[in-house]
Amino acid sequence: MAQTNNISKRKFDVVIVGAGGSGMRASLQLAKAGLNVAVLSKVFPTRSHTVAAQGGIGASLGNMSEDNWHYHFYDTIKGSDWLGDQDAIEFMCREAPKVVYELEHFGMPFDRNADGTIYQRPFGGHTANYGEKPVQRACAAADRTGHALLHTLYQQNVRARTNFFVEWMALDLIRDADGDVVGVTALELETGDIHVLEAKIVLLATGGAGRIFQASTNAFINTGDGLGMAARAGIPLQDMEFWQFHPTGVAGAGVLLTEGCRGEGAILRNANGERFMERYAPTLKDLAPRDFVSRCMDQEIKEGRGCGPNKDYVVLDMTHLGAETILKRLPSVFEIGHNFANVDITKEPIPVVPTIHYQMGGIPTNIHGQVSVPKGDDHRSPIPGLYAVGECSCVSVHGANRLGTNSLLDLVVFGRAAGNHIVESLKNEPKAHKPLPADAADKTLARLARLESSTSGEYAQTVANDLRACMQSHAGVFRTQALMDEGVTRIAEIRERVKNVTLKDKSKVWNTARMEALEVDNLIEAAQATMVSAAARKECRGAHTVNDYERGADDAEFPLGRNDKEWLKHTLWDSASNGLSYKPVNLKPLTVDSVPPKVRTF
Ligand code: FUM
Repeated sequence: MAQTNNISKRKFDVVIVGAGGSGMRASLQLAKAGLNVAVLSKVFPTRSHTVAAQGGIGASLGNMSEDNWHYHFYDTIKGSDWLGDQDAIEFMCREAPKVVYELEHFGMPFDRNADGTIYQRPFGGHTANYGEKPVQRACAAADRTGHALLHTLYQQNVRARTNFFVEWMALDLIRDADGDVVGVTALELETGDIHVLEAKIVLLATGGAGRIFQASTNAFINTGDGLGMAARAGIPLQDMEFWQFHPTGVAGAGVLLTEGCRGEGAILRNANGERFMERYAPTLKDLAPRDFVSRCMDQEIKEGRGCGPNKDYVVLDMTHLGAETILKRLPSVFEIGHNFANVDITKEPIPVVPTIHYQMGGIPTNIHGQVSVPKGDDHRSPIPGLYAVGECSCVSVHGANRLGTNSLLDLVVFGRAAGNHIVESLKNEPKAHKPLPADAADKTLARLARLESSTSGEYAQTVANDLRACMQSHAGVFRTQALMDEGVTRIAEIRERVKNVTLKDKSKVWNTARMEALEVDNLIEAAQATMVSAAARKECRGAHTVNDYERGADDAEFPLGRNDKEWLKHTLWDSASNGLSYKPVNLKPLTVDSVPPKVRTF
């Protein structure tokens, strides 16, 4: 006990874990307000996964076609298959133009129209006049929007004197006897040293856990670290059964080809050269939401119309766009075609398959970013000292299926909102740091001690690879009840193996094996939350499609297999008990009328 006394301690007003778009948007707000803020990141900030976001950030600027936030609000609710909370969705869609103009004023290099306004392209599920026709809402910097956003925010943070702790991996939350969060423990990768960072507020912005799947558009760093930290600290994870498959991952490589390709006019074709989306989505065609398009692609493949020797992919055809448009609007896609598929996309179509891209669930929060859990009759009681924003959080604006471009938007809207809320609350109720519990770092030190003393066991990567294979085959695009039930058992077995991971190389300096072993502790939390939550949800909703429950759009009671009577509710998974509870979806927006559930056709 109290080994904590022997390790280094530093104090900040706020500690942010993660230097992607949401973490750096929050830190900017805090540093500008004069707070002492530390941002920890496993990688250099501009290498955070936000850098990989390509197609755009959604905002109803109406620069290129008539638009307003009510349409965006409606599209996001429909896209979410009504699982999104309408208060949060209203907040996000109303704030969108403001945060985009703010980015513009920070110097973000958006593409421009001839009149100098921000260029906007169409994107999946974004419409004008409540579903009537596609709208141009994605504010784009070529196909490198996340890259431009991340560099802009990093520069602004440097100017505001944010403290960055680069190549530091946060390990565990520190909660005191009242349950308040008072800091984090962290591993400094360069030295192998463990530190305690004390804080009045900790904000988790660690991104998603896409690396629980085998084929993923996600960076290798996306191991669900914030989810693991929260789950181990007794905080439930919300709606983890909902994982987005992006329709256009390069077949065999997993690398993302932005939906901006289809926004610019690219077309999905099957082995017969048919533009098959016209059959499934007569109005939006290739620009229907991602869950819908991914299922249609899978259907084409299942029915034997896939391309290639194994008929296991479809193709994305951009040849009709012309080299000039492609090189101007989609330069990275052009390079990806060459580098990952050996295809010149100006001349031939490129093979694509639905690929894991985004986690809709996460750590439950309210619209201020406060981590909020059920307490008595209150479904959203804030945990003092803890905030979460971005993909690791679930506010929930994406519900059962996110619309493209709403991810970057979520990062900056809620990063900014959390920053503002923290500044206000520390101004209104100035508080000193709460004392650290005597055993603040003991759990972390015990995790490390087990690894350091291990002499036998399995390598972290062997266990992680089996975990990914299990998730891919038991929780894929199309799920069956039997597959998920079996997945629950297999993941529980893998959890036992995680306890027995060994570390052969015990060196201190930049030991990636130690980091990977610690990451597996996080992967297993995200994976088990996903599998158990998925097996329990006995309906089809958004990205959660279960063959056993599929019905037609004309089924009066359960259109498309969605069961609003029993399942219009959020899932909460608790790690300690591996058990589930539920809470209602908030169908009440902040100021406007609710959009009641209806059948989703496009
Ligand atoms: O397709 C894309 O460019 C991805 C965007 C997003 O996930 O929002």
